[in-house]
Amino acid sequence: MRIVLVGPPGAGKGTQASFIASHLDVPKISTGDIFRANISQGTPLGVKAKEYLDAGHLVPDELTIDIVRDRLSQPDAAGGFLLDGFPRNVAQAEELDQILADNGVQPGAGKAYLDIVLDLEVDNDEVIKRISGRRLCRNDSGHIFHVDYSPSQSGDRCDVCGGELYQRSDDKEDVVRKRLEVYAAETAPIIDYYREQGVLTTIEAAGEVQVITERAITAVDAARG
Ligand code: AP5
Repeated sequence: MRIVLVGPPGAGKGTQASFIASHLDVPKISTGDIFRANISQGTPLGVKAKEYLDAGHLVPDELTIDIVRDRLSQPDAAGGFLLDGFPRNVAQAEELDQILADNGVQPGAGKAYLDIVLDLEVDNDEVIKRISGRRLCRNDSGHIFHVDYSPSQSGDRCDVCGGELYQRSDDKEDVVRKRLEVYAAETAPIIDYYREQGVLTTIEAAGEVQVITERAITAVDAARG
């Protein structure tokens, strides 16, 4: 199954992505995670990406699209994938369709190359609360915590692997506000793009994590038929 998660910063895309990808048995591909891994390893891509992430701007398409093209050509993505954080604008959405066409995917009804685009809807006040308390594991385990909503039982260490927890450099309030502006101006238009293709499902993303996972899995299973 080919699925994209969309929603503002802090909507819970990363949190839900792991559950949904595991339910579908497809790889989870997060462009944000790929950029952060490159930044922490100090690669040339990381050096270029860092200034955009720290300012709350999108990394330019010419750096981003090739990463996704390469990743989707890996054998584990041949049977489907979950994309978290890509596409981020209409140009990236069009490129994604082209990548899938180049990979031999046949479009379905509405010329859609994806099976479902899950739009996680949450208001800006909730986003600020979620992001200001977010902590991530410094190891590559991908575990996400929140100081109030889902605290690690091991204090400032990851419950799962013992890695150090840290706060993202782009989670400062002024950068979060910029990211919200960028989302509204550049990313929100992809919602109409996918609505026109007939693959958009919007779910209310406020409430308990587990309840939202159930909503997401119900939507995904309905799209699977
Ligand atoms: P990216 O890493 O994709 O960040 P984002 O889209 O801004 O989303 P977040 O990771 O902030 O939030 P999330 O929705 O995953 O929420 P989470 O599950 O962590 O992108 C970062 C940057 O990389 C961009 O600004 C850009 O610079 C660059 N970039 C990435 N992709 C790009 C692209 N395609 N093109 C160009 N540039 C790109 O949850 C947040 C917090 O809330 C956590 O603490 C969690 O525990 C908590 N939480 C989750 N669900 C709930 C719930 N139901 N109730 C209470 N708390 C909850």
